[in-house]
Amino acid sequence: MNLKDLDKKYVWHPYTQMKDWQTFDIKVIEKAKGAWLIDTKGRKYLDGVASMWCNVWGHTRKEIIDAMTDQIKKLQHSTLFGLANEPSILLAKMLINQTKGMSRVFYSDNGSTAIEVALKMALQFWRNLGKPNKSRFIALRNAYHGDTVGAMSIGYIDNFFSNYKKLLFPVQRVSSPYLYRRPSNISEEEFITYCIDSIERILKNNNNIAAVIMESGAQLAGGSIVYPNGYQKEIKKLCEKYETLFILDEVATGLGRLGSMIEYIKQESIPDIVVFGKMLTAGYLPLAVTLSTENIYNTFLSESDEFKHLFHGHTFTGNPIGCATAIANLELYRKEKLIDSVQRKSRIIEKRLDEIKDLEIVGDLRHKGMMVGIELVNDKKSKKPFVVKKKKTKYLIMEESLKRGVFLRPLGHVLQLVPPLAIPIRELNTLIDTTIEIIKHIQKIK
Ligand SMILES: Cc1ncc(COP(=O)(O)O)c(C=O)c1O
Repeated sequence: MNLKDLDKKYVWHPYTQMKDWQTFDIKVIEKAKGAWLIDTKGRKYLDGVASMWCNVWGHTRKEIIDAMTDQIKKLQHSTLFGLANEPSILLAKMLINQTKGMSRVFYSDNGSTAIEVALKMALQFWRNLGKPNKSRFIALRNAYHGDTVGAMSIGYIDNFFSNYKKLLFPVQRVSSPYLYRRPSNISEEEFITYCIDSIERILKNNNNIAAVIMESGAQLAGGSIVYPNGYQKEIKKLCEKYETLFILDEVATGLGRLGSMIEYIKQESIPDIVVFGKMLTAGYLPLAVTLSTENIYNTFLSESDEFKHLFHGHTFTGNPIGCATAIANLELYRKEKLIDSVQRKSRIIEKRLDEIKDLEIVGDLRHKGMMVGIELVNDKKSKKPFVVKKKKTKYLIMEESLKRGVFLRPLGHVLQLVPPLAIPIRELNTLIDTTIEIIKHIQKIK
């Protein structure tokens, strides 16, 4: 049996209808260089989704590989339960130096579990203060915070999670500023005000809210929904006014994706707890962090028999290879002035989007930094999500993109471009050219 057959026989893929998978001409990726993935047949595919939004420099970047291999030779893993290690100490210092308002770093190994840590910290913060009643969360519609049970509860996207509803805890859910799909009888400004006011209403009428939690700057998995200017800052102000915690999820949108190193600094909305993951290790290894303010941290200090400490930890918490990789990655951000180059490329994207916006099936275009969401509709008036008779839009676009030497994986009917942050301009243009070609192709077969 060849690898493709073995995959179809043994591997269960994420978010994939495996019945469909059996019929696909699947690509088995063997290696990668720069922005290109290379399959076992030597064919190249431009990585249009940064290997699930995490790749920074492209693949096989020497400085990162060197840091990983140096660390592998010294210490592969040693626990943070009762011991410390150098890379996790140095990375923590580095993160605290770059993030305004934060003072402590808690390690985990993926975005979802780092979100669980944030939820547990928030809940216990109030408990440690003698206010256990403050135990509910306010979260946004279209939010995505990961696939563990707590993360699914706060990040509810109906299509994804309705099967697991019975596992999830109740959350106060409010509208996100998804302007394109606001009610037709109100203006953008009125809708933004409504979104903010609905949070205030809950905070005013409930004294049991532990925290408001949201993605920082934009909702990526929800369909690249970019927040309007000032929106996040207003929510931060509400949290202060009503003495509730503000938790920000920068797993997908921090570390350069939206054109800023730390998005909450740009949004002038310092949280109490913030989460990073994905691009932290340049997208090479699983590592995530939950950062908190000194105020949060201090409430966890007590005599040990008072049990106020944080009861959380993973086998690979603070893994030295992951941390050494992240240190090399963040050093390279500074050395290569990555954020400046992301901003330059973002302006190129902005210009080129003019070629896309008037296409027949493009309902809305949303762009910030190195993230683009192209919402495809059957017709612009009804805004009905784009569907082609036989195939799911997602699979159709995946197939059409692979045929053209690019890998794109839309979320539902939203075609997303989320390339490696350091993608060269030539490849960026190839990505946009191919996207235009695909849209023109599929609108013909509608
Ligand atoms: C905003 C956000 N938070 C959390 C997560 C979960 O991260 P992970 O997939 O590493 O568990 C994701 C993943 O896409 C995300 O986009």
